[in-house]
Amino acid sequence: MPGLFTSFQVKDLRCKNRVVMPPMCMYSADEEGHANDWHFIHYGTRAIGGVGLIIVEATAVESRGRISAKDLGIWSDDQIEGLRRITETVHANGGKIALQLAHAGRKCAIETERIISPSAIRFNEDYQEPNEMSKEEIRDVIHAFRLAAKRAKKAGFDAVEIHGAHGYLINQFLSPLTNQRTDEYGGNLKNRTRFLQEVIEAVQESWEPEKPVFLRVSAEEYHPDGYHPEDLIEVIDLVKLLGIDLIHVSSGGVVPAYIVAYPGYQLVFADQIRKATGVSVIAGGMVVKVEMAEATIRNGRADLVFLGRELLRNPYWTLQAAKQVGVDIPWPIPYERSK
Ligand SMILES: Cc1cc2nc3c(=O)[nH]c(=O)nc-3n(C[C@H](O)[C@H](O)[C@H](O)COP(=O)(O)O)c2cc1C
Repeated sequence: MPGLFTSFQVKDLRCKNRVVMPPMCMYSADEEGHANDWHFIHYGTRAIGGVGLIIVEATAVESRGRISAKDLGIWSDDQIEGLRRITETVHANGGKIALQLAHAGRKCAIETERIISPSAIRFNEDYQEPNEMSKEEIRDVIHAFRLAAKRAKKAGFDAVEIHGAHGYLINQFLSPLTNQRTDEYGGNLKNRTRFLQEVIEAVQESWEPEKPVFLRVSAEEYHPDGYHPEDLIEVIDLVKLLGIDLIHVSSGGVVPAYIVAYPGYQLVFADQIRKATGVSVIAGGMVVKVEMAEATIRNGRADLVFLGRELLRNPYWTLQAAKQVGVDIPWPIPYERSK
C-alpha cells in the first residue's frame, strides 16, 4: 500500500503527496464575491507548506447561493481574475488546486437575497423560509453550475469539486428531511438524486475531460429519518458513471443535529463508500496526527486524507509531519536551512 507521502494521480491531476486541505470558508471576500490578498496569501502559504492538494472554499455559483455576504463567488466573469491569481500562486509553489462549486440553498444567511430550496422548509429560526424552487429555477441553477465550471477552467484550476454535502442545496435535494417535492425531483431516492445528476452533467459539459471532478458528500445525517451511508452509496452508484472521479467524504449539516465527533470519526464512512462504490475517496475529520493520516492510507481506507482546522493552525504541518515519520520531502529552497 502507498503511504501519505507518495504521489496520487487521478486523470491529469498528479498530487505529490496525499495531504489535502479541504474547502474552508474564509468569509473574507468583498460583497461581490471577489478574492483578495487574504485568499492569495492563505492558499499560497499552504502550497509553500507542502500540502499536496488544496481545495478552495465553497465558491457560490449564484449570489443567492452564498452562505454569507463575504463568500467567494464565481457567478460573474469579473470574478475569474482573483481566482486565477490564487491558482497561479499555488502552482508556482508546487501545489495542486481545486475549486469547490457551491450553492447554499436554504442555508443562505443573506437577508437581502430571495432564498431557494427544493421545499419551503427553513433550517431553523435564524434563517428565512426558503421559496420552493420552480422547474425554471431548477434549470437556472443547473445552468449556473455549467457557467461556473467554465469560469473555473479559465481560472486555471486542476479540478472542481461539486458541493453535495453539509445540508447545502444539492444535499437539500438528496435528503428526505428537506425534499418533500411530489414531482420528478422528489420522492424516492432516484428522484431525489436527479438534481445532482443534472448538475454533474452540466459541469461535465463545460469542464475539461482530462481533468477530474470531485463530489463532496455528507455520508450520514445523524437523524433517524434522514439518509444513512447505505443510501448515499446508492446515490453515488447512480452518478459515478456521469464522471465523478473522487468522493470527498464528510457528514452532517442537513438539519441541526448533535454529532459525537472524535479524531477520525468519519473515516469509517469513507472506507465503506470506497469499498462499496469502487470510487477513490478523500477521508478525514479531526485528523491531527501524522500517524492517523498515514495509517488511513496504508490500511487502504482512503486514497487521500484531509486536515481542515489543523492546517489553519499550522500551514507547515506537511513538512513537519514528513520529517516526524522520517520521510525526506523537498522543502522550499528559501526554507531549507530550517529543515
Ligand atoms: C472555518 C471552516 C470553514 C469551512 N468551510 C467549508 C466549506 O466551504 N466547504 C466544505 O465542504 N466544508 C467546509 N468546512 C468543513 C471542513 O472542510 C472540514 O470538513 C471540517 O473542518 C472537518 O475537518 P477537520 O476536523 O479536519 O477540521 C469548513 C470548516 C471550517 C472549520
